[in-house]
Order: sequence, then structure tokens, then C-alpha cells
Amino acid sequence: MPFTDRKKYIEEGDLVLVYVSRTIIKPIYVTKGEHFNTRFGSFPHDSMIGLEFGSQITTPKDRGFVYLLQPTPELWTMSLPHRTQIVYTPDSSYILQRLNVHPGSRVIEAGTGSGSFTHAFARTVNDEGKLFTFEFHEERYQKAKEEFEAHQLNNIIITHRDVCKNGFEIDNVDLQADTIFLDLPSPWEAIPLLKKVTTNDKQIGICCFLPCFEQVVKAVEALQNEGWIDVELTDVSGRLWESHKAMKREVDDAVKRLRYVKERQREGLELIKAGKHPRKENETKENETKEKDYGFNPFGRGKRILEGEDGFEWFDVSRLESEVKTHTSYLVFARKMPPMVRKLENTRDSV
Ligand SMILES: C[S@@+](CC[C@H](N)C(=O)[O-])C[C@H]1O[C@@H](n2cnc3c(N)ncnc32)[C@H](O)[C@@H]1O
Repeated sequence: MPFTDRKKYIEEGDLVLVYVSRTIIKPIYVTKGEHFNTRFGSFPHDSMIGLEFGSQITTPKDRGFVYLLQPTPELWTMSLPHRTQIVYTPDSSYILQRLNVHPGSRVIEAGTGSGSFTHAFARTVNDEGKLFTFEFHEERYQKAKEEFEAHQLNNIIITHRDVCKNGFEIDNVDLQADTIFLDLPSPWEAIPLLKKVTTNDKQIGICCFLPCFEQVVKAVEALQNEGWIDVELTDVSGRLWESHKAMKREVDDAVKRLRYVKERQREGLELIKAGKHPRKENETKENETKEKDYGFNPFGRGKRILEGEDGFEWFDVSRLESEVKTHTSYLVFARKMPPMVRKLENTRDSV
């Protein structure tokens, strides 16, 4: 079943991504007689056949459940067997839109690595487009080729090649590439070799994915030397958004809250006057305090109110997690205009 098509029911031989938890998603090919084993128990593949993609199934003794998901490039990125560092969805989605990759685009990718980004490229360029991906590591090349075939990604041509030494040309194929993505340790060696395979008919976009700043400096130099323009550095930082309900707060609530604080202060002062330790006393009175209904409490201690509880007004809010995940790599973008436009621009500049 191709990654790009949707289907409703699971059949024998289908690739299913079994969602165990947010961090555990396992790819399986549904095979009669086999079992998928987890710490919750064993799930017979036979029980999956005929179910709808997206179904939840439980173990025979109801000890746990998993979801049976249809593969997408995003889920594949979360579940694929890692053979290299990979490009994750926050970066790949940004790069795709930034380079304006669309159905019909002709993309060069090097290296293929674990094929994570390759899946997203293949879906986006669609049947009208083409993806030329290059990998010089023999085993990775073989494995990626097998996976692309199994996933029926028929718009990919994968080549076993060191692109820094031998460039991007493919026998009997006119690449006419309009988009380049380089995820290589030394892209500056490959950049001068691109002009033989890029299109002269339209604007070309490039992105270099680089973990170190030293690599950025060399890549930028190579791009400028080769006539690429609008060279820009971007750094994608992933942030988690949390959404929840917030209780509507009125001025009256704030007044009640102040009264409550004052009352607590007064109780504390009275205890001190009586020669008692307010904190200790409060600890022993903690349960009483919890029980005591001050007739409000969106904010403070006391009666506990569950999010969304009846009897209060709520509205939906979202907030940014304070923990910001650092970037995975620097992204260097540039573009090149077709020779005709470049000539016109040069003439205009010299007038
Ligand atoms: C970080 S991985 C790419 C990961 C890939 N973007 C993904 O999302 O799965 C880099 C790959 O480039 C390959 N590579 C490095 N230099 C190369 C070269 N000169 N020609 C072709 N492939 C190369 C490596 O073997 C490695 O598999």
C-alpha cells in the first residue's frame, strides 16, 4: 500500500504502524499467524485483518491496548528504524514550504540516510514530480531502496553515489532539478557540481542542513561563489503548546480571594499570640482547611475544582511550554534565478 494513498480496512501484507505510546510506534507487516508483543501482552496479527485503520485493539485479556495506524511520512519519521541521524517533521515541513516544494517539483536529495525526509519529499512532489536521492553508504543505499519499493514510492530514483566526488548526473535521465536538499557533512564540495543538473527554466531553491556553524560558513561561501542569491540562515526551534481550560474570573472572585488571604493571616496571628506555631497548627488542620468551603476557589488552596467542572464558566486557552527544545541543525537557504533573468538583471545594473 503506497504511503500517499488512503485506504479504510487493514488487509494481510499491509504496513501498519502500531501506536503503543507517544514514544513507541512500531512498524509491522500484517502476517497471518504472527503476533505483535508488547509489555501489555500479545496482539495476534490475525485480529487486525479487516479492522479499520485507526482502530484501537486490546489484548485478549484486556490488559492493554494499541492503535493501528495507517502510515504517513510524519508517522514513519517517528517509527522508522534509524540508520543515521534523521530530519524530523518540524524541520522537514518548514523546509518543504520554504522551498515551495509542490506536486510536479523535481528534487535532488543527498544523502538519503534513513529515508526520513525522502518520504515527505516523495508525497509532496507526487506522481507529477520526481525525487532523485543519493547515498554513498552501500548498506544504507540497499536498505533505503528496499523500503522505497515496499512503500511503493514510485517517483523516487535512488542512486548509490558519492556526490561530492562524482556529482549528480544519471545516465539517460535529464534531471532538470528545481529544488536541492543537502544533508551531507561537506555540501560545499557538492554545490559546484549542481549546475549540470539544475533547470535553466525557472528559479531553483536550495537548503543545506548543517549541525555546525563552521559548516555553515563554508556552505555559504560555496553558494555565493556559485552565484546563489538571498542566502539566509534559519534555525527551527520546536516548542510544545499545551491547551487547557481556564476558569472565568470575576472581580468578585478576586475580592473573595483577598478576604480569604486576610482571614488566613488573622488565624495565623491569633495562633502566634496564643503561643502556637502557625505552620504546624495549619499542617494538622490541613484536612479541615481543605474541607472548609470558602464559597469560591478558582485560585487558591481549599476546595479543589477539577478543570471543566460544572457550575463554573470556562474558556479554552493554550500556552507555550517553558522548556524550549534546541534546534537540530542550521538551515541555510538560497535561490538561483534562471540564466535569462540573471542576464537581464546584470544589464539593468550596468545601465
Ligand atoms: C544525516 S544522514 C541523512 C539523513 C536523512 N536526511 C534522513 O532524513 O533520514 C547523511 C547521509 O549522507 C550520506 N552521505 C554523506 N556524504 C555523502 C556523499 N558525499 N555522497 C552521498 N551520500 C553521502 C551518509 O552516508 C548518510 O547516510
